[in-house]
Amino acid sequence: MNGNTSSKVNETVSWVGKWTFVLAAAGSAVGLGNIWGFPYKAGTEGGGAFVLIYLICILVVGLPIMMAEIMIGRRARKSPVNAMKTAALDSGQTSKWQAVGWGGLISGILILSFYSVIAGICLNYILIAAFPTPDVSSLEQFNIVTSSPSRLMLWHSIFIALNIMIISAGVIGGIERMVRLLMPMLFILMMVMVINAMINGDFVRGLNFLFAPDFSEVDATTFLRAMGQAFFSLSLGMGSIMCYGSYMPQDENIFKTSLTVAGLDTLIAILAGLAIFPIIFAYGLEPGAGPGLVFVSLLSAFVDMPFGNIVGPAFFALLSIAALSSAISLLEPSVAYFEEEKIVSRFSAALTLGLFAWVIGIGSVLSFNDWSDVSIIGDLNFLDSMDYLANQFLMPIGGMMVAIFAGWFLKPDLALDEFSDIHFTIFKIWRFFIKFISPVLVTAVFVYQLVS
Ligand code: PHE
Repeated sequence: MNGNTSSKVNETVSWVGKWTFVLAAAGSAVGLGNIWGFPYKAGTEGGGAFVLIYLICILVVGLPIMMAEIMIGRRARKSPVNAMKTAALDSGQTSKWQAVGWGGLISGILILSFYSVIAGICLNYILIAAFPTPDVSSLEQFNIVTSSPSRLMLWHSIFIALNIMIISAGVIGGIERMVRLLMPMLFILMMVMVINAMINGDFVRGLNFLFAPDFSEVDATTFLRAMGQAFFSLSLGMGSIMCYGSYMPQDENIFKTSLTVAGLDTLIAILAGLAIFPIIFAYGLEPGAGPGLVFVSLLSAFVDMPFGNIVGPAFFALLSIAALSSAISLLEPSVAYFEEEKIVSRFSAALTLGLFAWVIGIGSVLSFNDWSDVSIIGDLNFLDSMDYLANQFLMPIGGMMVAIFAGWFLKPDLALDEFSDIHFTIFKIWRFFIKFISPVLVTAVFVYQLVS
């Protein structure tokens, strides 16, 4: 696709390669959420119990909602706003359901705003890992990077610019090539890092931390954080997967692809945990250190490992690319909408929305330095507030609305049309989950959070 395509294209063109959808959706799902977010949140939330709740959320809330999003997107072959509208109208419901799509567009921009700042740090770390400064500890190095607004701004701007360029060129052509080669490479490097953690880290302690649940640490926020992380990591509740679903060929099986994407995403998150925590313990670092965790622990590991000055930059380069393929899917739902409605060209939409995210991102840049004492929501700084708003509020609510819609308002026959190649028992299980389990669980987590 390129700048002058019309809405027709979305209705007729789809990703043809057998693996394209899986790759693109995995490209959206696998990103900073897995390698930066998951370990640092598992670290601050006490480890095993968080991981267990996270895994349950992926399976019982994430997977059914992912299937619902793909189904709604694919049957309409339109951007999320119009896909929700079409599905509602075809089921004899009000077109107001499109609000779910609109909510997603807003979440996408908000997430991109801080996502890009962290991704910018990754970009900078490609150089830092290639040319480490002698006698500067990895913790000091992280502080040097984050204390400089101009440095963070530079990389944040580069990352947003890359996004705008790729999105304007069109997702369909660009992303497949990017993801097909690089995702397996990222996977291999993650394995290398896990092996390194086995050799140089305190692997048993890392395993224990990740997999032995200590429920004394669990409270209402643990549930909300784990659930939010599941939505974030699977790119659910804000239209990305629905949008990609609209490009999915008709002959692909929605259940199998969702399972593959969720499985890959979870695998990468767990590998990241296994690569990081043994190092944290062996080097006497703090598991609850927060957003700097990955940068600090991995940089220490690269400095000590053989060929670290080659593996290190390669790792941060792949992580940046994984972040880019996720960031593209944050912007794509809104760009697709503007293009579909012929409001502006693809390029203008990408530029305007990208700039919007860039401006909001300045708040996140400053939250590391000049504004580190400024609280926005509760005692959270700007970046944490955006993260909180998206992960623990907008995305779960968006996902819950999709579940309620698909379970209670969408005509079952319409869903069945898209799921015709899925075993009927699986369809029935899906319907049960999307009708009862997913909405009830999300609501329960919110209520528990409010009353506790
Ligand atoms: N899932 C991506 C990650 O884990 C982030 C993302 C969230 C992408 C929502 C798209 C939509 O990094």
